[in-house]
Amino acid sequence: LFAGSCEFVFGAQKLGQLPPQTLPEIAFAGRSNVGKSSLVNALTGRKTLARASSEPGRTKLLNFFNLADRLMLVDMPGYGYAKAAKSVKEDWQDMMFDYLRGRPSLQRVVLLLDARVEMKAHDLEVMDLLDKAAVSFQVVLTKCDSVKPGPLARKQAEVEAEIRRHPAAFPYLSLTSSQTGEGIEGLRAELAEFALP
Ligand code: GTP
Ligand code: MG
Repeated sequence: LFAGSCEFVFGAQKLGQLPPQTLPEIAFAGRSNVGKSSLVNALTGRKTLARASSEPGRTKLLNFFNLADRLMLVDMPGYGYAKAAKSVKEDWQDMMFDYLRGRPSLQRVVLLLDARVEMKAHDLEVMDLLDKAAVSFQVVLTKCDSVKPGPLARKQAEVEAEIRRHPAAFPYLSLTSSQTGEGIEGLRAELAEFALP
């Protein structure tokens, strides 16, 4: 699946522009700069498919990528980008939240948390929203290459304790690095379960 064709389909700025729901969808959500676009690139083995950047707020649209006509990956804009104007932030957030709540083809949300950063109110808000909407989600720790084993194990325990409180959460956490490829193959196998045959 991930070795096959992968095409950028569309970047949606508004809910009215979403492409038709012809494929099961997996959306990548998380704070600005957490590594969503980098993870989509690592999973698909393409360096520049989704535009990644050290500057937060890089992804401004809901970007849809068609994998071999079997699965749609959706690279979302990040939340919690402090520099954006308040009205812009609220517009994005409303759109993201509406998308997450109201998209029947959405099979799974991959919620990314930076292994180096504390969970924030926004992260918990998204988990609560997904619980309420009964959209199943799984949490992925990103940038594990930049954390030493001790602090990483503590972080893992802390996040696992949090996800156990969320009925819509898949109970296991994936530890990943888009830089070293850690955890990428395992995540591919999990996501492939949602693809059309
Ligand atoms: P927005 O689109 O702004 O919401 O950000 P994003 O979540 O898509 O993050 P992006 O993939 O653009 O990556 C942000 C920064 O984190 C870039 O400088 C990446 O190089 C860096 N980064 C992403 N993944 C990793 C990783 O696994 N390890 C390390 N060390 N850095 C990473
Ligand atoms: Mg991005």
